[in-house]
Amino acid sequence: MCGIVGYIGNQDTKEILLRGLEKLEYRGYDSAGIAVLDRQGVHLFKEKGRIACLREIVDPQTCGEVGIGHTRWATHGVPNRVNAHPHQSASGRFTLVHNGVIENYEQLKTGLLASHDFKSDTDTEVIVQLVEKFAGESETVEEGFRKTLKELKGSYAIALLDKEDPDVIYVAKNKSPLLVGVGEHFNVVASDAMAMLQVTDQFVELMDKEIVVLTRNSITIKDLEGREIQRGTFTPEIDASDIEKGTYPHYMLKEIDEQPFVIRNIVQKYQDLDGKLSLDESIRKEMLSCDRVYIIACGTSYHAGLVGKQYMEKWAKVPVEVHIASEFSYNMPLLSEKPLFIFISQSGETADSRAVLVEIKKLGHKAITLTNVPGSTLSREADHTLHLYAGPEIAVASTKAYTAQLAVLAILAVDTAYAKGIELDFDPIKELSIVANAMEILCDAKEEMEDIAATYLPADKRNAFFLGRNMDYYVCLEGALKLKEISYIQAEGFPGGELKHGPIALIEDGTPIIALATQEKVNLNIRGNVKEVVARGANPCIISMKGLQQPRDRFIIPAVHPDFTALVSVIPLQLISYYAALQRGCDVDKPRNLAKSVTVE
Ligand code: AGP
Repeated sequence: MCGIVGYIGNQDTKEILLRGLEKLEYRGYDSAGIAVLDRQGVHLFKEKGRIACLREIVDPQTCGEVGIGHTRWATHGVPNRVNAHPHQSASGRFTLVHNGVIENYEQLKTGLLASHDFKSDTDTEVIVQLVEKFAGESETVEEGFRKTLKELKGSYAIALLDKEDPDVIYVAKNKSPLLVGVGEHFNVVASDAMAMLQVTDQFVELMDKEIVVLTRNSITIKDLEGREIQRGTFTPEIDASDIEKGTYPHYMLKEIDEQPFVIRNIVQKYQDLDGKLSLDESIRKEMLSCDRVYIIACGTSYHAGLVGKQYMEKWAKVPVEVHIASEFSYNMPLLSEKPLFIFISQSGETADSRAVLVEIKKLGHKAITLTNVPGSTLSREADHTLHLYAGPEIAVASTKAYTAQLAVLAILAVDTAYAKGIELDFDPIKELSIVANAMEILCDAKEEMEDIAATYLPADKRNAFFLGRNMDYYVCLEGALKLKEISYIQAEGFPGGELKHGPIALIEDGTPIIALATQEKVNLNIRGNVKEVVARGANPCIISMKGLQQPRDRFIIPAVHPDFTALVSVIPLQLISYYAALQRGCDVDKPRNLAKSVTVE
C-alpha cells in the first residue's frame, strides 16, 4: 500500500508529482504530501485526505527541479498531516517518502535512535533519522543511506532528498514495488509505471535490496555493498489511455463494461496457431506432474480460486485445495507429495500471498502466478506466470480481473484436460464467446440493476444476504464482498442449504435477499431455501438463468453453459453493488479503509 513518486529534471516538478500521485491514489488515499527542493531549500506540503486536498494547499509558485511525493494508507499512526509523508530528519537536511512496513522500528527508536525526538507515530520517521545519523558518520550520503538500509527489517520502497545536493534522489527497494522511469535529461521513480506514463514509457526494473542514485542524466543501480549493477530498459504493455476514465463517471463502471472485451482478448491471447486454447509447454508439464494443486489467494482472487477448483477437478481431474493466503501462512496443511501452487493475484503484489510463496519456495515447491501485472513481485518470484490480459484495473473493487481470472483458470483446466487426453463435451472457445455476448447484454441492463439496488437496498437497509448453491454460492461470496466493500452494507454470502443451521436467525421483515438460480441441479433446492426466508419476512430478489426461470424472478440472465455461469451471473451483482454505493453517496472507486494493492501482511 502507499504510493511514492520522485522526479528530477527541468519540467514542472510539482505538477509531475501531483499527477503521478493521482495515478497512484488506488494504493492508498488517506493523506498525501510532496516535497520540492530548489536552491532556497525544501518546500513541503502535506494534507489529510485525497490528492485533491493536497493540490489545494500546494503553492502554485513552487518550482524546483527535484521532488518526491507520497499517497498514504495508514499502518502506523492515524491519517493526519503529521503522519503524512514526506518526513524530515531532525535538522531538516533529509526528506523522505516510504512505502512498506519497518518491522523493527520500535527497536531502532529505543536503540540506535534513543536520543532522538520523533514528531510522528510512523515507522517511516526512523528511516530518515537514521539516514541523518549515518550520513554524519560516513564519507558520503550514499554510504550513510546504505548503512541505514542494512539496519531495516521489513519492506520498503524509499525516495530520499538531500537539501545540500539538489542534483540527486536516492532510491531503495525491498519487497515493496518500485520502478525507475527513464527520460531525456530527466528521470523519474514511482511505485508503478502508471504514475510515470505521463512522461515516459521506458522503465528500469529494480530488485530487492538495491539502491539507485538518480540524477537528471544518470541512473546508477547498486547493491547494499555499493557494487554497481547494469540493467537495461523495458517498455510495458500498457497504454496511457488504458488508465483514463474516458466518459465514465467511475473506473468501476468502465471496468465492468470492459469485461466482454477482456474475455474475447483472453481467448485470442491463449489460442495457438491451430486456433486451439493452449498454454506454454512448461506450465502444462507442471500441471501434469503434480498430484494436487494448492490455490492461494485473497479476497476476490480467492473467490475466483473457488470456481477454478471446480474447473480443474471436473474437467482436468486434478484435485485442488483453495486457501486464503493469510491463513495458509501460519497454518499450513499437510501437503501432498507433489504439490503445485497457483497464486491468483490481480496486482501480483499482495503481501499475504507473497508470504506463502516465500515459504513454499523454501520447501522447494513449484509455483504459477496468475496475475494482471507480469513483472510484479508474485510474477517474478514464481516459476511461471499466466497473464490475465485484463488491462489496468484501477477501481479498488475488482471486477474485470475476477472474470479474467475465471477465464484463465478455465483455460488452464481445459489445457490440462486436453494434455491428459480427456474429451470435453463442449467447445470452450465457443462457450467463452457465448459468455462474452451474454456479458454485453448484462452490461446493457444498467437501468434494471439501478432499479434493483433502489428497491432492495434503499438507504435504511444495513444488511443483505446473498444465497446460492454450488457455483452460485461462490459467486454469492463475491457479490457480498463487492456490496460490502463499496456500499458499507453488511453483506454475507451463504450456501442456500446452510441458512437453517444458524444464519436464518438474522432474517427479519424486509431483509434483502439476493438469490442466484443458474444451476439446474439445485434450482428447486435454492427456491426452497428462498421460500424459507420469505416465510420469515425476507424480501427476495431472484436472479435466474434463462431456461430455469420462474414467474416471480426479478431478473433473468441469458443462458450460458452451466459450468460458465459464474462469468456472467457476477455482472448483475457488480452492477447492483455499484448502484447501491452510488445511491448512498459512497466513493465507489476509493472505498474507505481499503487500497487496491495490499502490500502489508
Ligand atoms: C476486491 O474487490 C478487493 N479489493 C480485494 O479483495 C482483492 O481482491 C484482494 O486484496 C486480493 O488482491 P490481489 O488480487 O491483487 O492479490
